[in-house]
Amino acid sequence: MNSKEDDNVMKNVTFKEGKRFGDWRTGPVLDEGGFGRVYLVKNDADPTKTAALKAESNTVDGGSAIKLELQVLQKLNEGGPAPHIPMLYLAGKRKNYCFMVMTLLGTNLKQLKAKNTIVKNGFTRGTWSRVGIQCLYGLKFVHDHGYIHRDLKPANFLMGNPKDKDRARIVHILDFGLARMFASLPRKFCKLMGPNGYELDDVCNACLDDECSKSNQMWKRRSYSKMSLFG
Ligand SMILES: Nc1ncnc2c1ncn2[C@@H]1O[C@H](COP(=O)(O)OP(=O)(O)OP(=O)(O)O)[C@@H](O)[C@H]1O
Ligand SMILES: [Mg+2]
Repeated sequence: MNSKEDDNVMKNVTFKEGKRFGDWRTGPVLDEGGFGRVYLVKNDADPTKTAALKAESNTVDGGSAIKLELQVLQKLNEGGPAPHIPMLYLAGKRKNYCFMVMTLLGTNLKQLKAKNTIVKNGFTRGTWSRVGIQCLYGLKFVHDHGYIHRDLKPANFLMGNPKDKDRARIVHILDFGLARMFASLPRKFCKLMGPNGYELDDVCNACLDDECSKSNQMWKRRSYSKMSLFG
C-alpha cells in the first residue's frame, strides 16, 4: 500500500467526537491498529456505559477483516459472556468502513511490558507467569471452538478495563481478523502465518502437518510463553 492509500485508509476511519453509531457516540481514540482505529464510545441512553468501537476502512487490500472477526466473536460468545473474550454489542457496514462495538478492555500486554520496565515495582516473574497462563486458557477457549487465531502477539492480548470489576484481572484475546477454522483440506506447502517478527520460519509440509493445525499454534503457545512476554 502506498502512502496515499495509507492516508485514505486512516481518513475513512477518522471520526469526530460525538459521531453516532446506534446508541453509541464516539469519544477519543484509544489506539490504532495496522488497518484501522479503536475509539472509546459512550452509550447515549446510559452515559456510564462505555465500550470500544473498532473501525476498519473498506479500501484495505481484500476489504475490511471486521466481517470475519464478527463471525468468530459471535461464535465464541454463543454460550454467553466468556471470560477471555470481549462481548459484541453492535456491528455494521458503511460505504467506506466497517465497525463493531465491543467490551471496553484495558492495557495490552505490549504496553504493559513497556510500562513495567520504567516503573520500579513492575510485575514480578510470578505475576507474568500467571498472565501467561491466562493467555493459554484464552487460546484454549478459542481452539475448543474450532478456531486458530493466526495473529498472536502481545498487542492482541488485553487486560480487562480497571473499572470493570468482573474483567479487570482477566487477560482477553482479540483481533480475530485472521482467525480461521481448522483447515480440512491442507495445501501442499504453506508458509506459517504470523504477525511481523513473530512468524515461524519453517515452511511446513502439509502432508505432515495441517496448514492451520492446532499443533502449530500449540508450538507457538510454547514459544510465546518463553519469548514474548518475559523476554
Ligand atoms: N475492546 C478494546 N478495548 C480497549 N482497547 C482496545 C480494544 N480493542 C482494541 N483495542 C486497542 O487497539 C489496538 C488495536 O486493535 P486490533 O488489534 O483489534 O486492531 P488491528 O487493526 O487489527 O491491529 P493490528 O493489525 O495492528 O494487530 C489493540 O492493540 C488495543 O490496544
Ligand atoms: Mg491487533
